Amino acid sequence: LQSRYLQQIEAAPSLKELDEIRVAALGKKGEVSLKMRELGQMTPDERQVMGPALNSLKDRLSTAIEAKKAALEEAALEQALASERVDISLPVRREAKGSLHPVAQVMEELAVIFADMGFAVAEGPDVEDDFHNFTALNFPPDHPARDTHDTFFMQAKEGTLPKVLRTHTSPVQVRTMMSQKPPLRVIAPGRVYRCDWDQTHTPMFHQVEGLVIDKSTHMGHLKGCLVEFVAAFFETDQVEARFRPHHFPFTEPSAEMDVRYERVGDAVKVGSGDKWMEILGCGMVHPNVIRACGLDPDEYQGFAFGMGVDRLAMLKYGMPDLRPFFEPDARWLAHYGFSP
Ligand code: PHE
Repeated sequence: LQSRYLQQIEAAPSLKELDEIRVAALGKKGEVSLKMRELGQMTPDERQVMGPALNSLKDRLSTAIEAKKAALEEAALEQALASERVDISLPVRREAKGSLHPVAQVMEELAVIFADMGFAVAEGPDVEDDFHNFTALNFPPDHPARDTHDTFFMQAKEGTLPKVLRTHTSPVQVRTMMSQKPPLRVIAPGRVYRCDWDQTHTPMFHQVEGLVIDKSTHMGHLKGCLVEFVAAFFETDQVEARFRPHHFPFTEPSAEMDVRYERVGDAVKVGSGDKWMEILGCGMVHPNVIRACGLDPDEYQGFAFGMGVDRLAMLKYGMPDLRPFFEPDARWLAHYGFSP
């Protein structure tokens, strides 16, 4: 019995057959187990001989099965290692990789450029109150300037001014001045809303606001900061800029910044050419705004600027129409070098 089983175990070609042998010999109804059960009907003398014999048979078979099992497993592993080896010299299979949306991409570019100049990032809510979006920013009450922003008004609660979808990121100037102590140097990227729809206007778009407040910040700082920004963003060192007088209620003096450019296809090349392009609004923060935020305009002054992120993306990456920015068309993204 012993040599028959030992032979079978030795010859077992796989774990499956080995287990079948184990069951046949040592399983509940296995040959050895049955024999052990017969011990009960034997005479004490017989039992004295057969008992230890069967036990040692059982042990031997178990040991042999365990050893064979280990050997078979080892062999299986060896074989797997041999057959599943990875050939790292094969060329990689290209996988489509997603990229940032152009708006997110430009926002990130802006954050990096301004971070290099020491600006932190600030945020405010999309649903603003009248105070932060208009009043603290020196928009006179009932002034038509509130209408020029094509404001989306929310339903007003009894006796209160309606909340608005913020029409610009400038309310974050107010929130920053009211919650932090100068010196301040922040940018505020975010969504803004105006009721408008054409090739270059969508009811939701993106701005990045900038704010610097300190004791002796002046217009020269504003100019240096923004020229450096344009150079970094459009990747040129020959920015020619002009600051054209303008009006915003919350800055005095106010200006729009134009840069010299020429078209290269739908994208623009800044620094050469004979055309001027407006890229942002800016100015020295109005003393009324500084005061409304609880700071003393005789002690603190500074500058602010605001720019359209989507517009900057269109200029840099050459999209002629703003509307597809907010439609889920993978072909459009791919066309401009972004992947879905
Ligand atoms: N908030 C202005 C706008 O949306 C831009 C601006 C910001 C101008 C800061 C001056 C200073 O048009």
